[in-house]
Amino acid sequence: MNILLVGSGGREHALAWKLSQSKHLDTLYIAPGNAGTAKVGVNVDIKPNEFDVLGKFCLDNNVEMLIVGPEEPLVKGITDFFNYSPKLTHIAVIGPCKKGAMLEGSKEFAKEFMVKYNIPTARYQSFTSKTFPEALQFLKTLSPPYVLKADGLAAGKGVSILTDFEETSRELKEMLSGKFGDASSKVVIEEFLSGIEVSVFALTDGNSYIILPEAKDYKRVGDADAGLNTGGMGAVSPVPFANAEFMKKVEERIVIPTIEGLKKEEIPYIGFVFFGLIKVKNEPYVIEYNVRLGDPETEVVIPRIQSDLVELFQAVANKKLQDYKLIIDSRTATAVMLVSGGYPGEYQNGKEIKNLDMIKDSIIFHAGTREINNSVVTNGGRVMAITSLGTSMKETLGKSNQNANLIDFEGKHFRHDIGFDL
Ligand code: AMP
Ligand code: GLY
Repeated sequence: MNILLVGSGGREHALAWKLSQSKHLDTLYIAPGNAGTAKVGVNVDIKPNEFDVLGKFCLDNNVEMLIVGPEEPLVKGITDFFNYSPKLTHIAVIGPCKKGAMLEGSKEFAKEFMVKYNIPTARYQSFTSKTFPEALQFLKTLSPPYVLKADGLAAGKGVSILTDFEETSRELKEMLSGKFGDASSKVVIEEFLSGIEVSVFALTDGNSYIILPEAKDYKRVGDADAGLNTGGMGAVSPVPFANAEFMKKVEERIVIPTIEGLKKEEIPYIGFVFFGLIKVKNEPYVIEYNVRLGDPETEVVIPRIQSDLVELFQAVANKKLQDYKLIIDSRTATAVMLVSGGYPGEYQNGKEIKNLDMIKDSIIFHAGTREINNSVVTNGGRVMAITSLGTSMKETLGKSNQNANLIDFEGKHFRHDIGFDL
């Protein structure tokens, strides 16, 4: 079959890399893709939010399956667009409908859902500019640090964690006055949870589900978790503390109630659910839902899946997940992200990336790259993930770091200690 994958990051290159190995694939198209996806499929110059152009492309190219990588088109309703456009209904979409995508698109919706279905999460209340005085009252009932979350999508910048009360109330006021536009016209204030985080992924056909390998990502830009938050500087899978006992709690208290809750709400959800979890005294709590795979988590999760990915997505589309047995590679995967100098602040694009052909024992997943005149250049803050598989975290980190040193571009930066806390 022909497949169209939407997105352009390391997550999409990892998905494309795996899809391209399937015996069921004819042509894989990626819109818009990057220099890495171009090596395993055909890049198409269409933006993820151009639904009608994507739809027309699918018809013209006999595409039978649409896989949506990033959250924005899902939150904007790409799945509903395909499911309700008469000419497109035959195309299977992997990605939830607009209502389901609200689990990520609205923090308040997600919190209400968790409370309704008894899913463990931090205590919270949500406020608008009209209820600012009440918001301050609620803040006073909490002890610092204070967690403020813009209700809507804010390109990963909508969460503030502050310790000073005055600073928190100023930040809250700014958010409610439009710091993140419409996304922060409502703000969720929640109790701070102290613990260690882990990302768990489920794939559901709307009825049953499978749990994919878990992963941990490293968000701070500097070694030992110092410096600013980024989109993610690296990841590891499996996560040793997420042992069978912990994962049983996650499945029983979080995954099952979420899938069942979606059914009770009559939200047809076909696609990934990403549970951003925190372990507090051995108990799992949900920090956030996302309605897609994580990045850079995908770059360690996908290489550990041995099953045919097209077959897996066909099982989802045909609602046959119940009988599906996922085969997992028990080895450890570590991804180290190379980023542009200055990221997550200002950085320059267009730097030539050298020595890519010298990499032997790691997999390179491109993120912000593009090809110009036969050379690959940087085209984003996060440039590429270097994933290594092996029997220990020490071995895989060693391989990834060695290759991170080898690849060269002006301003290159990476963390040397991915997995240090495990
Ligand atoms: P989010 O965008 O909801 O994932 O939040 C970004 C990051 O803020 C999370 O990955 C956590 O590290 C942190 N965070 C969010 N909510 C809380 C909370 N209630 N307690 C502690 N840390 C939190
Ligand atoms: N790595 C976290 C995310 O994809 O949101």
